[in-house]
Amino acid sequence: MGPQGLGITFVTLPLVIRAAAGGPSHWKELKATCGGSKQSPVNIDRRRLQRDSGLGDIVFEGYDQAPPGKWRLVNNGHTVMLSLEGEPASEHIAISGGGLPGRYRALQLHFHWGSPAGNGSEHTLDGHQLPMELHIVHINAKYRTLGEAKGHPSGLAVLGCFFQVSEAPNPNYNTIVSGLRNISHAGQSVDLASTFRLSTLLPRASRLSRYYRYQGSLTTPDCSEAVVWTVFEEPVDISWAQLRAFVNTVYFPASGAVPLKMTNNYRPPQPLHSRKVFASRDATSSRGCPGHLLSPLLLLALLSPLSPSP
Ligand SMILES: *[C@@H]1O[C@H](CO)[C@@H](O)[C@H](O)[C@H]1NC(C)=O
Ligand SMILES: *[C@@H]1O[C@H](CO)[C@@H](O)[C@H](O)[C@H]1NC(C)=O
Ligand SMILES: [Zn+2]
Repeated sequence: MGPQGLGITFVTLPLVIRAAAGGPSHWKELKATCGGSKQSPVNIDRRRLQRDSGLGDIVFEGYDQAPPGKWRLVNNGHTVMLSLEGEPASEHIAISGGGLPGRYRALQLHFHWGSPAGNGSEHTLDGHQLPMELHIVHINAKYRTLGEAKGHPSGLAVLGCFFQVSEAPNPNYNTIVSGLRNISHAGQSVDLASTFRLSTLLPRASRLSRYYRYQGSLTTPDCSEAVVWTVFEEPVDISWAQLRAFVNTVYFPASGAVPLKMTNNYRPPQPLHSRKVFASRDATSSRGCPGHLLSPLLLLALLSPLSPSP
């Protein structure tokens, strides 16, 4: 059958972390790969993007049809994950184009979030974390197992979406959010009341050609450097109440007398080293003044107390 390794990795992860008595900064002691030079997530510095006009529209297959089967939502002790494989229809959920080196089948999606006091995205934007991040993990269709795919720099493709807090709830997330109360405890799973079009979880269709692209890794051990990352520029709206449902309903695996709420399940940004983050053809050009384009003279004028008021 399909690759199973990913599920196993996620399930065993919290135990591994606990055994090492340390969070993400200690992962490299567990797995040398986690200290590699192409790790994820990264900070996306919009002043340092490199435009690549070859990064055009992504082709989404099966994203616009609700599969007939059931989708299972699981608390794997590390995140809330929706399996997208196993159903016959899932063979048809795939992405290609957009500069991706091949066709990639969807495996699963999951979330990273913060706490009542702080944002919890993995990628950061100009140094800022956003409230939450969605990852949709895909495997290069030319590989049969996750193990095989992890051995190649373009073995996996992950789509990342930021969330921002809106006044109104996002009805497209109702099914997932209402499933959360059925998976409070690690290891629990629930068959969602209905499937839905995966596209409804993404930013508006007209904005999907605006994205950032770079070469990176899985953000949990073993941190395989096998991921072509696509992070959409446009955040998805979600209400405070919906966000709180993630922060407040789900628990880490029980380890002591007091159950610990699943919060801050993100890895912080890793050094970019020699990598570049590319802006897609349609990505918005950097806001503000890109440092390297700012002439010294203009800079002086801007800083000068004598410059005319706006
Ligand atoms: C958290 O995210 C919001 C966007 O929804 C942003 O306005 C705020 O500055 C972020 N907070 C921090 C501490 O980065
Ligand atoms: C989920 O939990 C709710 C409330 O606890 C319950 O009414 C419902 O039957 C559960 N759904 C499933 C599929 O277990
Ligand atoms: Zn993730």
